[in-house]
Formats: sequence, structure tokens, C-alpha cells
Amino acid sequence: MYLLALLLPLTASASLTPSDLPVFTLDFDEHPSTRYTALFTHYKAQLLQMETMFLHSVAPQYRDEFKEKAPLFKDHNPEAYYSMEALAQIIGMETHETLLVNSIVDFSSWCTSIVARMENGTIIHARNLDFDYPSMMVHLVYKALIKKDGRIVAEAAAIAGYIGFYTGLRYDTFTVSYNVRMERLNQSDILKNIDYELKSGVLPAQQLIQRALLESTSYDEAVSLIVYHPVNTPCYIILGGKARNEGIVITRDRDRLNQTMSLNFKRWFVAQTNKDWWRAPDPRYQATEERLQNLTQAGVNPESLVSEVLRANGVLQSITIFQAAMSAGMGTFDVYLINDKQSGDVIA
Ligand SMILES: *[C@@H]1O[C@H](CO)[C@@H](O)[C@H](O)[C@H]1NC(C)=O
Ligand SMILES: *[C@@H]1O[C@H](CO)[C@@H](O)[C@H](O)[C@H]1NC(C)=O
Ligand SMILES: *[C@@H]1O[C@H](CO)[C@@H](O)[C@H](O)[C@H]1NC(C)=O
Ligand SMILES: *[C@@H]1O[C@H](CO)[C@@H](O)[C@H](O)[C@H]1NC(C)=O
Repeated sequence: MYLLALLLPLTASASLTPSDLPVFTLDFDEHPSTRYTALFTHYKAQLLQMETMFLHSVAPQYRDEFKEKAPLFKDHNPEAYYSMEALAQIIGMETHETLLVNSIVDFSSWCTSIVARMENGTIIHARNLDFDYPSMMVHLVYKALIKKDGRIVAEAAAIAGYIGFYTGLRYDTFTVSYNVRMERLNQSDILKNIDYELKSGVLPAQQLIQRALLESTSYDEAVSLIVYHPVNTPCYIILGGKARNEGIVITRDRDRLNQTMSLNFKRWFVAQTNKDWWRAPDPRYQATEERLQNLTQAGVNPESLVSEVLRANGVLQSITIFQAAMSAGMGTFDVYLINDKQSGDVIA
């Protein structure tokens, strides 16, 4: 996938106003074949455009792979299979095509996530979600209210057409974000991610996060689920809780933990981009860290994380779709859409 962005929306406005996202309730007691009907129907035209665009931007090799493997998803990942079958029917495509596009996040997204402790002890969590074709993707962002056992237990900033979650809040419990781990990611790795997705017991990372949001009733439970459960791809999952040291970047290999970095009595923030920055320098991590140090712990709050750090040069990307700032302790979850006023995508 190739992308050149022309106009960079680098000017942070002085006052931050959260975007008013469309809201959809997703009931996880309902079968995946009908759970997303209202959502997919609402976004039908944009979904058809997005699916078609991504489908034509991936190598034929992946399309063949998915055509062959799609039926296997029925047993191994019925959540993905039946929701993507429903999407395919609504927009008039093939199930293997929507399944393929649903897996695309594994190969094309970039992100920055931060968890910080304010001076008064409150934990806050913010992220940039960076994704190819931002001016198209931004129109698919919605707020999901996540319902389980008849109760809304969590919410997420989600992208229609993709199941699982990348940015979420389990009310009064924890916040979570997902960053792709790009180390050596090449074609054979991507095909390996797909193979892993079909191994029994393995969950795609975004569905592992979904499970945590649905089932983990404490920060510690969410951390251990994410540390130990097999995932289809190396990745970073970042969690924030409510107590002083509840903030962690979990670096995952597929079958095991790679490492963790947590808040402690003197470390008041942890941050992550898409690389193992402790092994080789990563300019975006360096810019993030420098901005945080300059902001100081006294100056850090949900708004300054967005305006002073995530929107700073070197951190904000031309393909950033949104910023989210959330806190389990404060019960807040604000999303700021970027890239919604211009179309800077040029496909080479
Ligand atoms: C910390 O400060 C923020 C306001 O910036 C406030 O909303 C939050 O409740 C405070 N936390 C505590 C524990 O007092
Ligand atoms: C892709 O990465 C794998 C390691 O995961 C490596 O074995 C392989 O040589 C790499 N291929 C290319 C073309 O770089
Ligand atoms: C973590 O991942 C890096 C990069 O693949 C690897 O070199 C290192 O050995 C891994 N560490 C552990 C403890 O698995
Ligand atoms: C951080 O502050 C120092 C000293 O005030 C300044 O020289 C530097 O440019 C600042 N860096 C950033 C990224 O704002």
C-alpha cells in the first residue's frame, strides 16, 4: 500500500473540542451475524468504498490466500466469519473479501500510545490512531457501546467494518490501546499472522482486547489476559488503570510475552510507538518522550496530552485519523477526529 500525504493538518487549535461521533450499541449477547446490522447498514456506502479500495491495494497473493482459507474461519473464528459474512451480504461482496480487509490492520497501521500519572495520582491514557487512507477512514469512526449480559460495560472508539477494538474503556476499571509492532514485518510475516489466526486458541489482537473489555473485571485481570493469551501477531497493548502504578506497555510475541514496562514510583509515564525503541532509536518515540518531559508531570492532563504531545511535530502523522484521551478514574473518553476536512491521500 502506498500513500503520499500532501497537506498536513499540523496546526493544533487552541481549544480542544471533542468530536461528536455516531454511537452504536453492540450487544455481545447477540449472534455476530446480526449484531452489526444497524452499523453496517448506516455506513453501507462508505463501507463499500473502503472495502473496494483496500481489496485492490493488497497483493493478489493475499486475496488467493483468503479465498482458500475463508471457510476455516467458521470454526476457528466464528466472530470474524459471521460478522464479515453479514457485512459482505449488506454491501454485495464476497465473505473472503471482507475477511481479508478485516485483517488489514495487521499490515498497515501506525500509532502512538501514552499512559501517564497526573500529579494528583489520576491515571490518563491517550493515543493517536494512524491508518492508511485517513480521509476515507475518518468517516467510519464511531463510538461503540459494548453490551454484555444486558448491561453496557465498556465503550470503544471503533472503525466500522473492522471487528474487535483498538481503543477502549472498561468503565471504572481500565483503558486499553493497541499499537502494531513493525519490527521486521514483511510479507512472510503477514501470511504467518493469517496462519496463526487460524490456530486453535489464538485470537487476533483486536479480539483479545475485545475479550478483555467484555470479561476482565479488574486492571490486573486485563493485564494477565493480555500478557498470557496467544495472539496472531507481535504487538504492543497498552493498559491504564486507576491506582498509582497502573499503567503498562505489554510487548507481545505471538506465543509469549516479550517484555513489559510499567509506571512506578518515579516513572510517571510510559509511551509506545510501533518499534522496540529500546533496541534501536525511533524518532517518533524520541519526539514523544521529549514532549512529555517538557510538559512535565505538573502540566500533564487529558487535554495537554493531545495538544502538546500527540499533535506535536514528529508525533502527529499525516495519516493520523484521531486522538483519543481517556481515563478509567475520571470516567472520560474523548475522541478528536483529524483529517476530516481535506483529502490528502494520493495513491501511487
Ligand atoms: C486530578 O485532577 C483532575 C483535574 O485535572 C480531576 O478531574 C481528578 O478528579 C483529580 N484526581 C484526584 C484523585 O483528585
Ligand atoms: C521476513 O521476516 C522473517 C522473520 O520473521 C525472515 O525469516 C525473512 O527472511 C524475512 N523476509 C524478508 C524478505 O525480509
Ligand atoms: C523480544 O523481541 C526481540 C525482537 O524480536 C527479540 O530479539 C528478543 O529476544 C525478545 N525477548 C524475549 C525475552 O523474548
Ligand atoms: C524542550 O525544552 C527545551 C528547553 O526549553 C527546548 O530547547 C526544546 O526545544 C524543547 N523540546 C520540545 C520538543 O519542545
